[in-house]
Amino acid sequence: MSKKFLIANWKMKLNAEESIQLAKDLKTEISKAKFGADKEIAVAPDFLSWQAVAKILKSSKVNMACQNAWYEDKGSFTGEISLAMLKDLGCQYAILGHSERRAFSGETDELVNKKVATALKHDMTPVVCVGETFEQRKEGRKDVVIMRQVQEALREIDIKPEQTLIVAYEPVWAIGSGQAMNPAEAEHTAMIIKQSLIDVLEHQDLPLVKIVYGGSVDSKNVASFTNIDVIDGALIGGASLDAKEFINLIKKA
Ligand code: PGA
Repeated sequence: MSKKFLIANWKMKLNAEESIQLAKDLKTEISKAKFGADKEIAVAPDFLSWQAVAKILKSSKVNMACQNAWYEDKGSFTGEISLAMLKDLGCQYAILGHSERRAFSGETDELVNKKVATALKHDMTPVVCVGETFEQRKEGRKDVVIMRQVQEALREIDIKPEQTLIVAYEPVWAIGSGQAMNPAEAEHTAMIIKQSLIDVLEHQDLPLVKIVYGGSVDSKNVASFTNIDVIDGALIGGASLDAKEFINLIKKA
């Protein structure tokens, strides 16, 4: 069975004290669970607690991720934190273009594309989020929207043979709703993403490009997604905020 990627997005849901507690709980539970090499785990805390969480999870099986970052390495970019700075601190995964950033922070496909290029430049694994809104789906535009997002985010991107790139398919309407997408539909969309990847990455090796599903994934439904051939894991919000539930979810994936 192929490796499963389980990436936790803590969003802006916890204060520093709560993040630290969750990291400690996670460390304890993970050491009991003894996951093998077939599970790749990462957590993305907020930036305020990021280093404290990284310190706690150092030498555990959990990798560090960021929820967003800026593409220039250094300079006059008030309020930003660069991918380069995060890489220096041991950040391995970069969630980029999450629909909440697209909706509330004006993140465009063009910006996502620049961030993806920088993440790969620093040998980080981009987790590129794509997904349609409820309106786009209702109007029958889902597939076109997804294809465009994938193609724009990965335009002129080169992936080295040893690098991994993850596309997270997250239907916007399924996020935080408690109503995950029907797995058969997620499979269909993942196939479309795969085809778009083949088109945009042309000659490049595809095995290290992974597709994960996100949107109300929990320990009860995770296997219905990760059992699908073309889906290599999940991006998890709400269900990652409780250590026991998250560990259970990883077990079932
Ligand atoms: P959710 O969030 O699991 O709470 O739906 C997923 C996400 O936004 O990445």
